[in-house]
Amino acid sequence: MKEDPSAEKRIGELTDAVNYHNYRYYMLEDPVISDFEFDKLVRELNVLENAYPQYVREDSPSKRVGGAVSEKFGQVKHGIPMLSLDNAYSKEEVIEFDERIKRFLGIGTNEEIEYDCELKFDGLAVELAYTKSVFVKGSTRGDGTVGEDVTGNLRTINTVPLKLLEHIEYIEVRGEVLMDKESFKKLNAERLKEGLSLFANPRNAASGSIRQLDPEITRNRRLVMFAYGIGDYSKEIKFKTQLEMMDFLKSAGININKNISVVKGISGAIDFFDAISKKRESLPFEIDGIVIKVNDLSLQERLGEISKSPRWAIAYKFSAKQEVSVISGIEVSVGRTGILTPVALLNPVNIGGVVVKRATLHNQDEIDKKNINAGDRVLVERSGDVIPEVVKVVSKGEKRGSFKLPDLCPCCGSPVVIDGAAHRCMNELACPCQIKGAIVHFVSKRAMDIEGLGEKIVDKLVENGLIKNVADIYYLRRGDLSGLEGFGEKSEENLFKSIEKSKNISYDRFIYALGIRHVGEHIAGLLIKYFGDINGIKNASIDGFSSRFGIGEEIGKSIYNFFRLESNIAVINRLFKAGVFPYIVSVSKFVKNSGVAGKSFIFTGGLEEFTRDEAENIVKEMGGIVEKTVKKKLDYVVAGKEPGSKCEKALKLKLNIIDEAEFKKLINNII
Ligand code: IVH
Repeated sequence: MKEDPSAEKRIGELTDAVNYHNYRYYMLEDPVISDFEFDKLVRELNVLENAYPQYVREDSPSKRVGGAVSEKFGQVKHGIPMLSLDNAYSKEEVIEFDERIKRFLGIGTNEEIEYDCELKFDGLAVELAYTKSVFVKGSTRGDGTVGEDVTGNLRTINTVPLKLLEHIEYIEVRGEVLMDKESFKKLNAERLKEGLSLFANPRNAASGSIRQLDPEITRNRRLVMFAYGIGDYSKEIKFKTQLEMMDFLKSAGININKNISVVKGISGAIDFFDAISKKRESLPFEIDGIVIKVNDLSLQERLGEISKSPRWAIAYKFSAKQEVSVISGIEVSVGRTGILTPVALLNPVNIGGVVVKRATLHNQDEIDKKNINAGDRVLVERSGDVIPEVVKVVSKGEKRGSFKLPDLCPCCGSPVVIDGAAHRCMNELACPCQIKGAIVHFVSKRAMDIEGLGEKIVDKLVENGLIKNVADIYYLRRGDLSGLEGFGEKSEENLFKSIEKSKNISYDRFIYALGIRHVGEHIAGLLIKYFGDINGIKNASIDGFSSRFGIGEEIGKSIYNFFRLESNIAVINRLFKAGVFPYIVSVSKFVKNSGVAGKSFIFTGGLEEFTRDEAENIVKEMGGIVEKTVKKKLDYVVAGKEPGSKCEKALKLKLNIIDEAEFKKLINNII
């Protein structure tokens, strides 16, 4: 390994700079440099780190990316147990808490205690350990004494600093990992399109994301972390109050939510609760109440704890968005991918201002776990925009035992197959429910965008035998719809116009519209980029969907099988025959205005995933130019491991140097 003290120094400077700007961007939300300048720093650091791996620091931002997929999480023992909080649901209970504290401390009832009030984040509790200011270990709360080692996953969260801004010998920071409401919605929308099971709420999504064996998946889930306390810490740190502690964490670069208030007396805490209740819906993430903490740490110490909860704090929770109701029946719905979802029909119940009549039971495993059947009195929860769900049985009804999903599809009578946690109807092409679902997907905004074909109309068209598959839409004739309820001449005219307009569609949207299992918008774009058009995809071998391009084995199999079915090919041919004409956005096999076409490249050093020939061929096939010598006007210098003199020359010429990851991004870049 070559040594170079100046490279080590520069790596240090760049690591500090990138970490600092990351902090300004994600935590202070106040960047001081442009994204472009930031990317440049990251790129320079990546290049140097590739060349001098021995100098990569433990707090390097490159450690946020990917990392090894673990078989199973290791265990972490919490030196100081992670306690839970006692709950209060009313003003009276909160006042009792205040009285209890005064009694315990021997303080007069007229005196006022100072309370620190914070949000009660509804996520997953974690502990982050820092040694000499560097993030070394992250764990879940587990049972409070022993948690799971999720260091690699926590590293991928931008609001988890890899290095603290102040020198601290040792500290354990405690906080909550959350998924914001927007990311949660997006994640579920994507999962729905790709036929995956949905997360019931952001808390489950955050927890599932942290407990992923592959950190790359966690990284893509966009989580945030807010700290609310500390565990063990070295003795050089001192503070007197909870607020001082939070301020200290903040100055060390730890993410603290700004909704904190120190108030005099319990009435101040109640006012804080009322103010936060009003703000709750507008917050970007879910909270389930506030936490009231005695501000003075010496009083906290005197108060101590009782049965795993501190005496000095209480969670004042919003009245739960949960109510009890009776399941009058269980209906089974069949989605476009054939998955059977059991739905509880409920005696109507008002939950937090919304009348709920149906709640999802998710799947057979959930029903078995909760032992649910029609007639049971159950607890129903509605959180945010999420589909209401049955939490648990309160008391069993007359029918004992639990409900079983049918062996035959309730929609078409075909056999149902168990596929992981899902029960699936395999009659993909003729099951009316799947047909309806597939058509609704095909016409949806981001697919063919046929306005005027809503779910209800699709239902009617399928029920009346007017369409049996997506191609039939293009063979509808004027007058076919006039007999349908609620369909006038004008709406028929508009529908035909938008059907006609949809014939001219970009190829990636067309592929997405076909509703191939696991093929969302992103994968559809990749397919077109690498295979050019439908014939390229159809003729590809299973191995052709190389995982290198982000299309893994399961997805590859699904695409391959889709094009082996004669009936699918027949539908596609009828679409083309009707005049659907997807346009190709690429010049040759690849996309014309990707980041590669017309750009010049030079490669130096070894790449991990490509041989030099492969990489150069990809560039050429995508319309790029491969150069052999470094010159002033090169667009990209791709530097792999141990880059040679070309890289040094490129640095001098201040050329745009990228690493392998950037190169992969560039060739995967969908327009
Ligand atoms: S303090 C001694 N502060 O609530 C307990 N906890 O039910 C220290 N939580 O496991 C917890 N927001 O995950 C504290 N501002 C906050 C919190 C908070 C959410 C969670 C935490 C804990 C659970 C206790």
